[in-house]
Amino acid sequence: MTISSKSQSPRTADISGVPIDSDLSLDFLRVVEQAAIACAHTMGQGDRHKSDQVAVEAMRKEMDSLPIDGTIVIGEGERDEAPMLYIGEKVGRGGHESNDARHPGVDIAVDPLEGTNLCALGEPNAIAVLAASEHGGLLHAPDLYMEKLVVGPSSRHVVDLDAPVRFNLRAIAQSLGRLVEDLVVTVLDRPRHEKLIAEIRESGARIRLIGDGDLSAGITAAVVGSGVHAVMGIGGAPEGVLTAAAMRCLGGEIFARLVVDTPEHEARCRAMGITDFKKIYRSKDLASGKHIVFAATGVTEGTLLKGVRFFGDGIRTTSLVMQTEPHRIRFIDSIHVQPGKDGTAKIRF
Ligand code: FBP
Repeated sequence: MTISSKSQSPRTADISGVPIDSDLSLDFLRVVEQAAIACAHTMGQGDRHKSDQVAVEAMRKEMDSLPIDGTIVIGEGERDEAPMLYIGEKVGRGGHESNDARHPGVDIAVDPLEGTNLCALGEPNAIAVLAASEHGGLLHAPDLYMEKLVVGPSSRHVVDLDAPVRFNLRAIAQSLGRLVEDLVVTVLDRPRHEKLIAEIRESGARIRLIGDGDLSAGITAAVVGSGVHAVMGIGGAPEGVLTAAAMRCLGGEIFARLVVDTPEHEARCRAMGITDFKKIYRSKDLASGKHIVFAATGVTEGTLLKGVRFFGDGIRTTSLVMQTEPHRIRFIDSIHVQPGKDGTAKIRF
């Protein structure tokens, strides 16, 4: 990631925006790895709040070691409802060392544990995730619902959020050179999706109903060969912004519209500078930054990412780290060595 900094240092970007090799993506990798490891210890214990809390604490702690002047733009909530990683919180070394001009300004969207229930119940596809960009590069979305349609690179130009479901499915199938009956659409299993599910079934496409986690489902839809071809339905807006950041890196697309039903919703949008409540956002609107970094680590076993594995001498994690500048997508398998009593670590494959 290359982000404008107030002055130069070997690790920070230059203000001309020329990508440098010593980027921040591996720093962000560390952050999601630590969050994932922390909450993976609570897997299956049935306490979603505890799972979330330890992920937040670990992410916050690691984030503060980063050489950035970071601001949380999507986090755990407003300042009065979240003690850590709240919207507007300053993170990173630059956020604490006053008048320190060495660190680049970075906006950060976090979901320390996407799928709190999934982790608490030991179900698949819980991830620790964040996205970052230069200042102003991620939409400050209120924590409302959002209508979403997520597709991979081949289908991005053929669908429309307002088109009938059967039309979109036909278009997706055509763009992928397959039958509608061969498609798999992921949908959050919620009563609000009864009509949507009926329409998908009528069209003949197959459905993967998920309990939680439309963000990791969205990433999956943009990866050819994952077996998922679209995500449809209403989910969280913060997850929508994070999905958009992933789409910027993967070449997929999210079409999204905030669900603004009440005067209170309108007020929350206005407080974040949003006045067009009917706007259909695409990835480039939700994650507009030139320099986007996206990092996620699997917590429980998942379609794309393995869960955290503890094996006595160490901990093994699988992560996805992507960036737009330079455009790079990496699957990273890390072994966090915890030396045994004799000072050695036995690593196995
Ligand atoms: P948490 O990580 O907060 O548990 O949210 C998981 C999630 O399923 C998201 O993936 C999704 O966007 C949202 O919740 C859906 O919200 P709801 O559970 O209210 O339908």
